[in-house]
Amino acid sequence: MREMGENWGNRPPDSEAVVQFDQVGLRYDLGPEIFRDIGFSLPGGSFHFLTGSSGAGKSSLLGLCYLALRPTRGAVTLFGRDVTRAPRAALPRLRRRMGVVFQDFRLINHLSAMDNVALPLRVAGVSETDIRHHVPELLAWVGLADHLDARPPTLSGGQKQRVAIARAVINRPDLLLADEPTGNVDDRIAMRLLHLFEELNKMGTTVLIATHNEQLVRRFPYPRLHLDQGGLTLHPVGSEPWNGGGTARRSTDRPYP
Ligand SMILES: Nc1ncnc2c1ncn2[C@@H]1O[C@H](COP(=O)(O)OP(=O)(O)OP(=O)(O)O)[C@@H](O)[C@H]1O
Ligand SMILES: [Mg+2]
Repeated sequence: MREMGENWGNRPPDSEAVVQFDQVGLRYDLGPEIFRDIGFSLPGGSFHFLTGSSGAGKSSLLGLCYLALRPTRGAVTLFGRDVTRAPRAALPRLRRRMGVVFQDFRLINHLSAMDNVALPLRVAGVSETDIRHHVPELLAWVGLADHLDARPPTLSGGQKQRVAIARAVINRPDLLLADEPTGNVDDRIAMRLLHLFEELNKMGTTVLIATHNEQLVRRFPYPRLHLDQGGLTLHPVGSEPWNGGGTARRSTDRPYP
């Protein structure tokens, strides 16, 4: 039997699923079943949208992926390891391989935008010289060059959202989970942010984006996982009339920023 913890830190080969759900069920306490035996897998380097009406379970599914929730039944496998049985001590190490954009941002209010975004780099031991180079560059790219020192309570919803996105992508995670990452910005910025996720994906990050934004799903040629009444269906690219074709991209090239 494989030891828990073995190979936790290795990047999986591209052919391996980064996320896999097998017959996963979820309910909160004694409430109704949110998921009934759902199954899917995200191959390394893939890009998927996650759709479904409000309350369908998008945030809950992401919560299972970033290990905030455990399934009521079934198995969740991340980076090739069954995390349903993983010891708690193994979870932080897995989480460090993920970038998460929370629907409610979860920024640290007493830190500046710059320090919020620098946090994952400091945890990873990146030098202050590199931090001072990369963080302002990324914040400028998302249109916040003039707000490096601003604290989150003084920012608008869309600005906070962009800080949260910058924090999630700054260390080029193996897996990016983004919950409505364009819910508070205009179309032009939404497109720019999607291009940022595409760039990350080209460098090897597996991407899953929960969204209500039909326009966005139509404009980008990626498959979508759709949640409805406790079930999940995969709509491959081209299976919907507005999708012109194309495939999820993959790559193994992943230099540090
Ligand atoms: N902590 C919780 N305790 C109990 N029920 C919850 C909890 N969080 C979510 N739910 C329920 O689970 C269901 C799915 O909620 P979830 O937040 O995952 O939906 P969603 O698709 O992300 O919705 P939205 O598009 O509005 O963000 C809802 O019926 C919700 O009431
Ligand atoms: Mg949600």
